[in-house]
Amino acid sequence: MSIKRKVRAFAPATVANVCCGFDVLGFAVDNPGDEVLLTLRDDTEIRIESIIGDQGKLPLDANKNTASVAIQSLLRKTGHPIGVDITLYKNLPLGSGMGSSAASGVAALVAMNNLLGEPLSRTELVEHAMESERIACGSAHADNVAPSLLGGFVLVRDYQPLDVIKIPLAIELYCTLVHPHLELNTSDSRKVLKPTVKLTDAIIQSGNIAGLMLGLMKPDGELIARSLKDVFAEPIRSAFIPGFHHMREIAIQAGSLGFGISGSGPTVFSLSIDIASAERTGQLIKEQFLKHDLRSDVFISKVNQQGARIIE
Ligand code: HSE
Repeated sequence: MSIKRKVRAFAPATVANVCCGFDVLGFAVDNPGDEVLLTLRDDTEIRIESIIGDQGKLPLDANKNTASVAIQSLLRKTGHPIGVDITLYKNLPLGSGMGSSAASGVAALVAMNNLLGEPLSRTELVEHAMESERIACGSAHADNVAPSLLGGFVLVRDYQPLDVIKIPLAIELYCTLVHPHLELNTSDSRKVLKPTVKLTDAIIQSGNIAGLMLGLMKPDGELIARSLKDVFAEPIRSAFIPGFHHMREIAIQAGSLGFGISGSGPTVFSLSIDIASAERTGQLIKEQFLKHDLRSDVFISKVNQQGARIIE
């Protein structure tokens, strides 16, 4: 085992679904993200020492916090009899659709795995990070945690057994995230979805996810643009985002390849080939939210290829 006593890790925000990949596709951005500092204890307790930046909203109970729950899951697997104090630097807004719960769990896991001397690979950490999602929203989806761990675009081809594949991205893309100051709980945003989909919608969605994969790998920007469509969740969830459909038109006019809801929202995202389009889109979407009396934050970032990292 490593003799380190302290490790600090960063895990990036993520865009899950990417329009056509509901629960099966996500990508990581460079920033923002959450950080976790772990300090080794002399006993086997996993304790949340402090959370900075959550305005007291997150649980300090180690059985309920996404960071500690992920660590508990990892230690059950490896059997290491060690304990840690956890400090969580919560930079991502809660209930934003930017993979906030995933980033906390992933940063905690990557730090813990490092403290243990890296017994598990990044891919092997995915199932433990999914426990963070289970505790945060009742659904152990992997489309935020997998890209936050691995970086880039990650496909969750199957859940049983878990089959997580990093897409060999052949194109440099910029992501615009615009986070309106609204909080949407992921479990509520999942409850509004219908449990079944129409065959005609399944056909459209399958064509688009396959098209998007191919577009990212060829690369083919026009194919990516044609494929960034969602007929599963967006028709229902867009009702919670004022002005959503008009924003898409504006994003496309500003040069974005596509526009959609980031995860379960309310953050919206667009993908662009050049940073100028990404910035222009961000500014225009921010103005649109203001027309609906909503202030927002804009984040522009390259698609991150590295995923979570140790920072100290
Ligand atoms: N795929 C999940 C959903 C992501 O859309 O509910 C949640 O961030």
